[in-house]
Parts: sequence; C-alpha cells; structure tokens
Amino acid sequence: MKDTIFLIGFMGAGKSTVAKCLKEQYGRRLVEMDQMIERREQMPISRIFEENGEAYFRQLETGLLEELAGSRRLVVSCGGGVPFRSCNVDIMRRSGWVIFLTATPETVYERVKNSHHRPLLEKNMNLPFITGLMEERREGYEAAADIQVSTDGRKAEEICEEIIKRIRESEEKPELSR
Ligand code: S3P
Repeated sequence: MKDTIFLIGFMGAGKSTVAKCLKEQYGRRLVEMDQMIERREQMPISRIFEENGEAYFRQLETGLLEELAGSRRLVVSCGGGVPFRSCNVDIMRRSGWVIFLTATPETVYERVKNSHHRPLLEKNMNLPFITGLMEERREGYEAAADIQVSTDGRKAEEICEEIIKRIRESEEKPELSR
C-alpha cells in the first residue's frame, strides 16, 4: 500500500520543516532519517562519516528505509543523499509517494550557511560548491520523484497543502505525476 510520504531533496531544501508541518497538520507519524540514525549510532552524522566512512552511513540509510517500508501513514524526511542508490528509490516508490522539494542554490545557501552538522558542506560552505553539487544531483532527484514542489519563498503550510492536493490528484489520475 502506497501511503507514506517521502520527502527528498538537497540539503536545506526544507524537508525537515515541511515534514514537521505534515505531522502537525495531517497527523502523520514523523521520521527524521538523520536523527534516527544518530540516535541509534549514538553519534552525530559527521562523526559517523569520520569514523566509519560514507559507505557505512549509506548502508544505514538503506536499512532504515527497509524497516520503514513496513509502516503506514508516515512522513519521512530523507537525508539528501537517499535517492542516489537505486534500491532506496525502489523501496520508497513501492511504499509511498516520493516528493522532491526544490530550492535555488541561493535559498539553500542562506538556509544552511550557519549550520555545522553536514559533513559534505563543512569544508565547502559556499554558493559555487552548492550550485555544482545541486546540478550534479538534479537528475537523480527528478528521476526518483513522483511529484516536484518548489519551496522558495513559501510557507511550510502552503507547501504541505500543495503536496496533499497533488497526491490526491495523482491518486485519481496517475498520469499527472512524473
Ligand atoms: C546528506 C544530507 C544530510 C545527511 C548527510 C548527507 C547528503 O541530510 O544525510 O549529511 O548526501 O545530501 P539533510 O539533507 O537532511 O541535510
């Protein structure tokens, strides 16, 4: 049954904020993948990367998605790298709706510039790097997603409403998504 909502997109695209809003407004159970992994490993993502490497972290993401596929009515805020393993995309598309939240590199930079928990940006906290990585990743996000929603200059409530409306439309007319 396809009813979980998976939010994908670049770091700083607004996945956590929108997921929280979907929990509050639509009573979905919220799963923050990064937070859950940190809790289980009892260390921040940056230390997981340092001590065990990125491949280990990516395996934890896949394992967690496999577990989540068995639950209903979740909203899952995915880590920004989740759609770049095809097995992850298969799991998400089988068990839910994959929503790609977009933002311009400028918006992302403004949202993430003062945070220090993202190992991929830690030594690259600048607009050209963000622009380049986002460009590299765009195709992967688009290919994984059922629905694409812009977050630039919009309130979380408005984005949630659009997501729910477009999921309903897609359920009624599957040819509208993708
Ligand atoms: C990553 C994004 C991060 C986190 C990790 C790797 C990525 O999550 O999973 O630092 O590869 O884009 P957010 O997108 O929630 O920042």
